[in-house]
Amino acid sequence: MPPLAESEARIYWKGVVAAMRSGTRVLLVALDGDLIQGSVQIDLETRANGNHRAEAMKLFVHRRARRRGLARALMVELESTARRLGRTLLVMDTRQGGEAEKMCESLGYVRYGAVPGYARSGDGRLHTTVFFCRQLDE
Ligand SMILES: CC(C)(COP(=O)(O)OP(=O)(O)OC[C@H]1O[C@@H](n2cnc3c(N)ncnc32)[C@H](O)[C@@H]1OP(=O)(O)O)[C@@H](O)C(=O)NCCC(=O)NCCS
Repeated sequence: MPPLAESEARIYWKGVVAAMRSGTRVLLVALDGDLIQGSVQIDLETRANGNHRAEAMKLFVHRRARRRGLARALMVELESTARRLGRTLLVMDTRQGGEAEKMCESLGYVRYGAVPGYARSGDGRLHTTVFFCRQLDE
């Protein structure tokens, strides 16, 4: 949420690194040389009744690199990584009306619901979140 203090961002990313070290999170980045242009994370469910499942989260592409297919490429790589890790079901949620909603639809994700007022956006208002899933071939 803006304004985002660097200290707050560091705490967030340290949490991501800790989850990666514990084996429950995978971070994929799109690189242009040394420059990170975009990223997405896979959160691996650890509970026994859901260890076939993963959540795609925090997909973003820097403004300078948008509309060049990077998000699509990250999602394609995310799917093959998830499959390699034995996951056969992906879930993802995103803000209704945002660019990622169209992307999920065009990638073949199935919309299974929408919850009004689920998350707060940068301007402080609550907005609707749409929930998607995708079965991966085993
Ligand atoms: C959503 C986001 C990741 C898309 O990244 P991107 O690299 O520009 O996306 P791509 O070029 O791979 O486009 C993939 C598809 O997304 C949709 N899309 C992306 N940007 C769009 C836009 N501005 N308007 C409409 N559709 C858009 C299109 O369906 C597009 O497919 P197409 O190019 O065949 O039409 C990027 O806009 C972003 O980081 N937004 C802010 C963070 C965010 O909303 N993240 C999603 C959280 S789940």
